[in-house]
Amino acid sequence: MNKRTWVRNILLPARIPAACHALVLIAVAAGPAAAEDSVEAIVKMRIASMETMDKAVKNISSSFDPVFPYEPQEVMAEAKKIQAEAKRIPELFPEGSMTSKSEALADIWSRKGAKKFTKNAKSLVKRVNNLVSAANRDDRDAVADEIRRINRICEGCHAKFRKN
Ligand code: HEC
Repeated sequence: MNKRTWVRNILLPARIPAACHALVLIAVAAGPAAAEDSVEAIVKMRIASMETMDKAVKNISSSFDPVFPYEPQEVMAEAKKIQAEAKRIPELFPEGSMTSKSEALADIWSRKGAKKFTKNAKSLVKRVNNLVSAANRDDRDAVADEIRRINRICEGCHAKFRKN
């Protein structure tokens, strides 16, 4: 083995694991901070998502205000917004995702709580699907009825799983 081959075969491969160790150490050091960042991000995202639903529910409700004309297109668009956000609820609440900015209660992830939480999220999706089809056939009484039911689901989940 001449010197060059020796360097390539023996020294270089040995250096790769060393470099990997360094990377692993960096990753371990950055890990908790990175995880915290991503919890912050997810809390921010779900608050934005909840606020989108809130605005959409209010817009639909105000469509029944006699002062304004009922706009079927707008009701449909708002219903679809709620539909898109409602589906995201499970993924926006990964286990233990709480920060000082979050009003989520830890019971969301208890064994009993998790079941109820998921059930609430599912009932919301179901009702919102009904809302979208009511809006689609422009059945205004059904829209009004669904939005009332939806409001009750939102409030029910908040009463159990959100700090007041
Ligand atoms: C499955 C349970 C659940 C359902 C269903 C649900 N929410 Fe929430 N909502 C929460 C939780 C938990 C929080 C607190 C999130 C946090 O602060 O991390 C929250 C927070 C909020 C907030 C406060 C956001 C802020 O500014 O801090 C609003 C507004 C809101 N929800 C609106 C709605 C509306 C409107 C609906 C129904 C269309 C709804 N939510 C359905 C669980 C739910």
